Amino acid sequence: MKIKIVFYSMYGHIYRMAEAVAEGAREVEGAEVELLQVPELVPDDVLEKSGAKKAREVFAYIPEIKPADLPDADAIIFGTPTRFGNMCAQMRNFLDQTGGLWAQNALVGKVGSVFTSTATQHGGQETTITSFHTTLLHYGMVIVGLPSSETRQMTLGEISGGSPYGASTITGSDGSRWPSENELAMARFQGRHVATITRKLVGK
Ligand SMILES: Cc1cc2nc3c(=O)[nH]c(=O)nc-3n(C[C@H](O)[C@H](O)[C@H](O)COP(=O)(O)O)c2cc1C
Repeated sequence: MKIKIVFYSMYGHIYRMAEAVAEGAREVEGAEVELLQVPELVPDDVLEKSGAKKAREVFAYIPEIKPADLPDADAIIFGTPTRFGNMCAQMRNFLDQTGGLWAQNALVGKVGSVFTSTATQHGGQETTITSFHTTLLHYGMVIVGLPSSETRQMTLGEISGGSPYGASTITGSDGSRWPSENELAMARFQGRHVATITRKLVGK
């Protein structure tokens, strides 16, 4: 079974989470896991000024995905940072090029799942993931979140992302906070959980 992790990351937090999702998915027998990123839209000089250009060098080796690559997957796990409580424009732009796939029912019955990051604790993690789910439902995908059997999402002992909708991390307003062990463990769980369900669906 093929699992594609499709993400956008400006400063690297979602990339770090994507790696953890991939680690979890690879634990499931038969999983062929691939990390892919959607194309950047922000002009180079703007990225340079914000420091994002340097940050993005770390994961520049990850290939870019094209819409035509999606039907090859049995499951697609999407990762996006929050922009005003929604997915980022780079991800939206990529999804908006998949009208042809939608018209051909090319993604119907595939497993879809979403993880995210925000700067602040209540900055829109849940709205970003659940509004993303709307597009996955239009595709006809089978949505998988983060079940309550992943009890790390109930922690009150520390600040942590993670909800029934999916794994998440909080970066801090200056981006200086990196995914905690609790958040990375939830990301691994989500990857493993998606792969386990996909295996049951595709039978290999
Ligand atoms: C235009 C813009 C809008 C943003 N909107 C929000 C927001 O609504 N809530 C929030 O907590 N963080 C917001 N952020 C912060 C990003 O979500 C944060 O930089 C991102 O999660 C970091 O992930 P990355 O390192 O993978 O890019 C926003 C950032 C930008 C540039």
